[in-house]
Amino acid sequence: MARTIETRNESVVSIEEFIDFVHAQVDLRDLDSIETAAPLLRGMANDRQLVVSRLNRQVLNLFRTETIASAQVIYLGEGRDFYLRANVWPSLSDLSSGRVYQDQFAYSVAHDHNYSFMTVGYHGPGYITEMYQYDNSAVTGKLGEHVELHFVERLHFRTGMVMLYEASRDVHTQLPPEDMSITLNFMISTPDVRLRDQYFFDLERSALLDYPLELDGSRRISVIRMAADVGDANTQQLLNDLAASHPCRRTRLAAYEGLVKLRPQDAELVWRKAGSDSQALVADAARSRLDALHRS
Ligand SMILES: [Fe+2]
Repeated sequence: MARTIETRNESVVSIEEFIDFVHAQVDLRDLDSIETAAPLLRGMANDRQLVVSRLNRQVLNLFRTETIASAQVIYLGEGRDFYLRANVWPSLSDLSSGRVYQDQFAYSVAHDHNYSFMTVGYHGPGYITEMYQYDNSAVTGKLGEHVELHFVERLHFRTGMVMLYEASRDVHTQLPPEDMSITLNFMISTPDVRLRDQYFFDLERSALLDYPLELDGSRRISVIRMAADVGDANTQQLLNDLAASHPCRRTRLAAYEGLVKLRPQDAELVWRKAGSDSQALVADAARSRLDALHRS
């Protein structure tokens, strides 16, 4: 369950102090250990210049280089397997009037995260969040499949509050704040994160809605599809290897699909092999492709 952490810290903590503490004290694979950084994250939020100084730099750079990753994510620093950023949450009136363009997740779409993160309210009234929990191991990954989502609580995440979200367990929706708000986020980026999926959920149907396009998994699939469009014998070998051994089930399925695209005459063979995949997402897709082949 997402934890709301009671913590006080009157002193100002610098980014460097935070990074040093995490390097020395925190096991990023253990939520209790991550939680020990809460007073420091709270202390970082006492630095009233932290975001504005970076934002100024970003404005300056934007007009110099014309490239900006996201107007609503401000990079603050990083350490081994984690990074720090500020997130800007535009208000509903900013968005509906077109004054601010939203380039992050749409509000109101329920989602989990494939990383754990701890967040502190930094500026503004803060967003409202509705939290749920689910069992990631029960999700096969098929779009539209039923997912048991358990409502936990609805909460106003105000300036000064600290919360810790668990990867692939906590689900939430966010509602736009009344005024533009900012959070500071301590993001865990251990190597396993790149292999985990993130989901959008349909709360009304209690179902898996979609995968975000910016996921590593979604990018891998996109590259595989492009390679299958223009591929040669080498591509075939690469896709064979990925289909057999990549730890991400969506990537394996995309590799099988790519192989069939490259060599349609081998479709039966490829889908027979895919049928013995350990994950239902791949094995079930293989079964329905074989059925379709036999019907045609
Ligand atoms: Fe989120």
